[in-house]
Amino acid sequence: MMSIMHRFLIAGLVLGLALPVAAQAQTAAPASGAADAQGVVAPDETQRLCSLRQNMPGQDEAAQIREREAKTIVLPADGHLLGDWQRGAQVAHSDAAGPAQGGGCYACHRIDRAEATFGTSGPSISRYGLLRDYDDDEIKAAYAKIYNARSKTACSVMPRFGADRILTEQQIKDVLAYLFDPASPVNKP
Ligand code: HEC
Repeated sequence: MMSIMHRFLIAGLVLGLALPVAAQAQTAAPASGAADAQGVVAPDETQRLCSLRQNMPGQDEAAQIREREAKTIVLPADGHLLGDWQRGAQVAHSDAAGPAQGGGCYACHRIDRAEATFGTSGPSISRYGLLRDYDDDEIKAAYAKIYNARSKTACSVMPRFGADRILTEQQIKDVLAYLFDPASPVNKP
């Protein structure tokens, strides 16, 4: 639970250091603040605005942020959005660092109601697929939300799992299956 929070704190510090440099350079800011292959942290216009507005941007600014963030979303080339719910359960539970790092979803969400430990800063996402009739558009919307939460809520505290390369495409598909596979314990009525 702590390690994922630490990662956010460290990311915030790194961005804070990068921003003055970005302001000098006057470059167009890419949507993502993720480090590139050389480990250079790109300036993040969305993060700058969210900090400036204390996560409460005005309507127009929020719309601009959502539009910019939506452009970062890459749908799977094979057209399959749902992976393996059992691996997805591990992604949702795990926040271990390293190549197998997880989503830490339970730090903020109630998901499988059989789990006693969960955070509540995000809404309950129990029975997520069941409550949405396993609808294709809902699956696409949830993929987009998980890939880049700020495409839906401009200054969301939920990490941008795809856009910031926290999870791989396969891990996003797997966690999506955890939410949408009728066999997943998340969807027990
Ligand atoms: C740091 C806290 C945090 C973490 C970690 C987090 N979320 Fe969220 N999530 C939120 C918050 C807060 C919201 C609601 C506000 C918003 O839209 O951003 C949300 C919203 C959502 C929604 C939309 C819920 C709805 O109302 O339909 C889904 C789906 C979701 N999260 C899935 C996930 C998954 C899957 C993971 C793990 C891969 C995850 N979240 C990790 C905080 C978090």
